[in-house]
Amino acid sequence: MIRKRVAVLISGRGSNMTALIEAAKDKDYPAEIALVVSNRADALGLESARNAGVPTEIVDHAVYGKNRSEFEAVLDDVLKEHRIELICLAGFMRLLTDEFVTRWSGRMLNIHPALLPSFKGLDTHERALAGGVKIHGASVHFVVPEMDSGPIVAQGAVAVHEDDTPTTLAARVLAVEHRIYPFALRLLAEGRIRIEHGRCVLIGTAARADSALIVPSARA
Ligand code: GRF
Repeated sequence: MIRKRVAVLISGRGSNMTALIEAAKDKDYPAEIALVVSNRADALGLESARNAGVPTEIVDHAVYGKNRSEFEAVLDDVLKEHRIELICLAGFMRLLTDEFVTRWSGRMLNIHPALLPSFKGLDTHERALAGGVKIHGASVHFVVPEMDSGPIVAQGAVAVHEDDTPTTLAARVLAVEHRIYPFALRLLAEGRIRIEHGRCVLIGTAARADSALIVPSARA
């Protein structure tokens, strides 16, 4: 099996990056985490990547000021140097230009801590609690120029508890993120995703959902 060469782009903690690295340790996993790039030298995830033996690069956006194209030209060079085929954004806190996103169209995933298309943008857990939703979660989606709007590959849902704070809810969602991101990357790397009418369709499976999540419990 030829494994796809993947770069994970981070800005911080890197727990999703670690979940991807762990998944890719399985020799049957169709992708290899060939590179971790951070736009911040102090990102905690860099240390975890190094400990896992994954090559790391820092492309510090601050050096290029407001010039996104220059930042991306350097990023592109780094990706080319490492012969990267797919990109996973994992807590990468820079907006990418339309040109960059279009160039990587169909080859770049992002993870967002909400059930898209609800709660695009930042502070998703605070807004979910303020909105009184009973079910919240995370989504892995293709990156398109419009933020948090690309075709959805996979979602994971969690129950919102009455005594949840943004912190407790974030932790429950994060556990789901760590499951769906490796799964979504597997589907992409295996070439099992087709995009039809702006939606992801799985090739060769019925893609049936596991079960219903009803909150509060329907048995209450
Ligand atoms: C995650 O909640 C992810 O959904 C969001 O940023 C956070 C990154 O966390 N895009 P980590 O760096 O992967 O731990």
